[in-house]
Amino acid sequence: MTTYLKPFTFHNGVELRNRYVMAPMTTYSANPDDTVSDEELAYYEERSYGVGAVITACTYVIPSGKGFPGQFAGHTDAYIDSLRKVSQAIHKGGAKAILQIYHGGRQSPRELVPNGDVVSASDTIAADGGKARALTVEEIQEIVKAFGETTRRAIEAGYDGVEIHGANTYLLQQFFSGFTNKRTDEYGGTLENRMRFPLEVVAEVNRVKQQFADDSFIVGYRFSPEEPEEDGITLDHTVQLVDRLANEPLDYLHISLGDFRSLARRYEGEKENRIKIIHHVIDGRVPLIGVGAIHSKKDALEAMETGAELLALGRELLIEPHWVEKMKAGEEVITEMDMTRDHVIPGQMMRMMQSRPGWVPGVK
Ligand SMILES: Cc1cc2nc3c(=O)[nH]c(=O)nc-3n(C[C@H](O)[C@H](O)[C@H](O)COP(=O)(O)O)c2cc1C
Repeated sequence: MTTYLKPFTFHNGVELRNRYVMAPMTTYSANPDDTVSDEELAYYEERSYGVGAVITACTYVIPSGKGFPGQFAGHTDAYIDSLRKVSQAIHKGGAKAILQIYHGGRQSPRELVPNGDVVSASDTIAADGGKARALTVEEIQEIVKAFGETTRRAIEAGYDGVEIHGANTYLLQQFFSGFTNKRTDEYGGTLENRMRFPLEVVAEVNRVKQQFADDSFIVGYRFSPEEPEEDGITLDHTVQLVDRLANEPLDYLHISLGDFRSLARRYEGEKENRIKIIHHVIDGRVPLIGVGAIHSKKDALEAMETGAELLALGRELLIEPHWVEKMKAGEEVITEMDMTRDHVIPGQMMRMMQSRPGWVPGVK
């Protein structure tokens, strides 16, 4: 436990005060004009006093990528002041602020994107069961640039870094997955081609970093290891992606999992713990963030055994915003939401959690 409560230094020399980070969590609670609301600012500040870094909810980089009602925006310079308020709220408690940058692709609700035009890697099924349309090469290039532009805004808005959202079935993952990517051009077909768009986003974000920031600006990448669909991503595919990403100028990789204990489903090697497998592949080239159902001290100790250099907590920080401080003080933490207490959680976020029983332990 003590090692993870001590400072951690990235390869670029940036130090986190400990190895716990807040996992990105969408709050559904922006103002009607997609600027950040006061409720969200209070939520971030409340959780900024213990963890080494806070990764924000995902912000969309271009209108076609908006994925949630009440998602705060990052797609034009008009939102820099709004984005800055979040980095300032996170800095109040001494955590590093990392903006998660995103495009929802086929998962974007039709009513949230211009002209109901839902886009993806290929003509495929949208979240509402309707159609998502294949992006043209020109549009792909525009989205790559948009990831760079939002990175520039993050730099101007005082963030310590950005996390490229390549996980959870959103656009970057849709390109990598053979289930959603049936393209026959240079962005589809072979695994190498399916990696092209995510790698171009990485390159553009790094180009912008070099132009507007310095080495201390953190760039991370989040990925999901497997998909259930027949043509979908297997752990063997992800091993190859991770191997490529680990050679890129990235400061960390972040696996996305609901439970850190989960085992490989489709993998040629031994079907052991997914984080362990990925950590082995990275082989120290870049730190890995592990995540998923870490609530108690016992969970955290077990998660450390995966080898992940950093651990992210999402739901537990909703339940116990001062989890890290309590661990430091040797105090007990609760692992289910106490619904009799007041919480510094935006109202709409709480309602979303209440509408999905079992999502966050104890939420009724
Ligand atoms: C309310 C909520 C919103 C989430 N939003 C995001 C998001 O915007 N981006 C993302 O990469 N993951 C998101 N996730 C997934 C979490 O980052 C995390 O991977 C997941 O909750 C498992 O970790 P946990 O058990 O510590 O919560 C969200 C999870 C929750 C509970």
